[in-house]
Amino acid sequence: MGSRESSFMSTIFFFLLLFSLGCKCIASELHLHATQTAVLKVDASPQLARQIPDTLFGIFFEEINHAGAGGIWAELVSNRGFEAGGPHTPSNIDPWSIIGDDSSIFVATDRTSCFSRNTVALRMEVLCDNCPAGGVGIYNPGFWGMNIEDGKTYNLVMYVKSPETVELTVSLTSSDGSQNLASTTIPVSGVSNWTKLEQKLVAQGTNRTSRLQITTNKKGVVWFDQVSLMPADTYKGHGFRTELISMMLDLKPRFLRFPGGCFVEGEWLRNAFRWRESIGPWEERPGHFGDVWHYWTDDGLGYYEFLQLSEDLGAAPIWVFNNGISHNDEVDTAAIAPFVKDVLDSLEFARGSADSTWGSVRAAMGHPEPFPVKYVAIGNEDCGKKFYRGNYLKFYNAIREAYPDIQMISNCDASSSPLDHPADLYDFHVYTDSKTLFSMKNTFDRSSRNGPKAFVSEYAVWRSDAGRGSLLASLAEAAFLTGLEKNSDVVQMASYAPLFVNNNDQTWNPDAIVFNSWQQYGTPSYWMQTLFGESSGAIFHPVTITSSYSGSLAASAITWQDSENSFLRIINFGSDPVSLTISATGLQARVNALGSTATVLTSSNVMDENSFSNPNKQSRCKSRLFLTLSPHSILRLPSPNSWQRCEAATQAHGYDLSLSLSLSLSFSSLERFPPASSLPAPAPAPSPASLAAGSAASSPTAPAAPPHRLALPPKASPP
Ligand SMILES: *[C@@H]1O[C@H](CO)[C@@H](O)[C@H](O)[C@H]1NC(C)=O
Ligand SMILES: *[C@@H]1O[C@H](CO)[C@@H](O)[C@H](O)[C@H]1NC(C)=O
Repeated sequence: MGSRESSFMSTIFFFLLLFSLGCKCIASELHLHATQTAVLKVDASPQLARQIPDTLFGIFFEEINHAGAGGIWAELVSNRGFEAGGPHTPSNIDPWSIIGDDSSIFVATDRTSCFSRNTVALRMEVLCDNCPAGGVGIYNPGFWGMNIEDGKTYNLVMYVKSPETVELTVSLTSSDGSQNLASTTIPVSGVSNWTKLEQKLVAQGTNRTSRLQITTNKKGVVWFDQVSLMPADTYKGHGFRTELISMMLDLKPRFLRFPGGCFVEGEWLRNAFRWRESIGPWEERPGHFGDVWHYWTDDGLGYYEFLQLSEDLGAAPIWVFNNGISHNDEVDTAAIAPFVKDVLDSLEFARGSADSTWGSVRAAMGHPEPFPVKYVAIGNEDCGKKFYRGNYLKFYNAIREAYPDIQMISNCDASSSPLDHPADLYDFHVYTDSKTLFSMKNTFDRSSRNGPKAFVSEYAVWRSDAGRGSLLASLAEAAFLTGLEKNSDVVQMASYAPLFVNNNDQTWNPDAIVFNSWQQYGTPSYWMQTLFGESSGAIFHPVTITSSYSGSLAASAITWQDSENSFLRIINFGSDPVSLTISATGLQARVNALGSTATVLTSSNVMDENSFSNPNKQSRCKSRLFLTLSPHSILRLPSPNSWQRCEAATQAHGYDLSLSLSLSLSFSSLERFPPASSLPAPAPAPSPASLAAGSAASSPTAPAAPPHRLALPPKASPP
């Protein structure tokens, strides 16, 4: 084994996904007896090293489960234009409601708005001469209540028309109106025109389920339209909910596929997402009813905002457009030309210069620089549809001609047989049970090495193995991802689905990030993904596992290009403990014995889920394995809160770039670590002097360490 000849290792980040032990008790339970053995060998020779595509792991964002409206889009008012239902069905004002009763107030929609694309407005007639002290009016509870926080500023914008002078009181209150968090009275002079009113409200208290009220005491008629309430502190001022964006950023996404999914198709074409109706001033957007996931969106999160989000995430935008096909109706290829033109316009909107027809619209929205759209998907899951191929070719040819560099994604699976049409990439979607997904780590081993690359644009374990996001699901998904890394010569991109769920509208289960108006947590599948964020663009090294238990194990090894850090992920999908011997072969080189870090995702029960009250029951936790030549190393087990500090300490070690391919891995036996209770305080990061000493101690002339063994604890049986 290579580790005998070669010297000690560089900084290894050691990612373990293993069963059975909570992070906090790992040290004390490591005495458990392993019943299985495995030898894991990393071949770090340069001939076999291969660069993983920069784009490998990214995000698929679909407007499902109120992921956007009432989710990452921070707008607090739901149905701000009273348009819900849209032009195709009678509009309704839900969830707006009245303050007062039938004898004091009467509201109805009419089509008197000043906006031509969303003509519905609300007419409010106050009937009372002596109105109740608090006034009568309307309120909006937002998306299951607005999160109003003490000291924060909220920007209210609304359009009002009042033939007579009136005073309107705008307030943020608790859901029953009893608790007043912010309130101000705005005089409106009587004019026959619409007036735009803007008002800042500063909250003097916190309530997570608040509402916006607009009230008056004066008899008469007032019209309202486009009522918006945005928190002042959105991500980069771009309208996104900061905490949810930061969870996206922690995935280090290299691409953002948007806005669906089936959301792109619609049950019926008339309800599909239309980019053109989602751009321009927000007040002028008509909004639409997403009939697949059954909710109205005001389309504040529109095509432009998705492009902006890609930029803010540092992710390549992947625009999935409707190709003239919905779940229930299709445009004949003979009539597809206007749809093709529409998509070309969308690309000009993104990429055209600021003086082009559509580029100028983008520039007017505040982004004169083009957005670098390099990928488009021609439809979603439409391969079997009657007009798919015909329509596909019309889009394909037109886009290829206008934008030769844009990579096009077909909905037809080419993993086992070639496509009958040209494509740069093909979609591959899988939702299955955990055993099947675990075994699918080999799926792309057999794929043709020629032809279009795979975009695994939706994958997840679902149904009984997944619950509402289980450890078991994440383990199978992790194993599947090791297979994608291994096959990343033919797999270019992969994304979990769906990413988000608002806890109040769980249309699809499971999801990676669960939130409500003010809280959020990651399911194990989310935390699993954070362990793979480093792979995009890294160097892949083949791993072989020799074990009678190899059917339950998966692993992958990568090295960062820039820093020469190595990552090893090992998944024990089985229920037995495994004693693991790790070795590596490759170039001989000078190496440092500095230490490595283990990040562990595990739990005592494979069906364990996270929750708002226990959001970190299963999250990655990080501990450092000091691989110095000292016989007693320290296993540090920080709480998730000390993650950043721990990571910073690791970075402070620095790296020796000459180490790159000398992955001679040796791990101190975890069995020898003292139990958690007797762990000393975390060691400070070594000084440059001690780093130098470490290098010297581990120079090729230093005595080689014996191979070390690491026990993988077993998983608990599913209930
Ligand atoms: C928020 O308002 C609700 C409804 O009035 C009330 O039950 C709850 O206690 C309030 N929460 C806080 C934190 O004041
Ligand atoms: C009312 O609206 C019309 C049409 O937009 C405009 O020409 C006129 O100047 C407006 N009047 C006032 C008083 O704002």
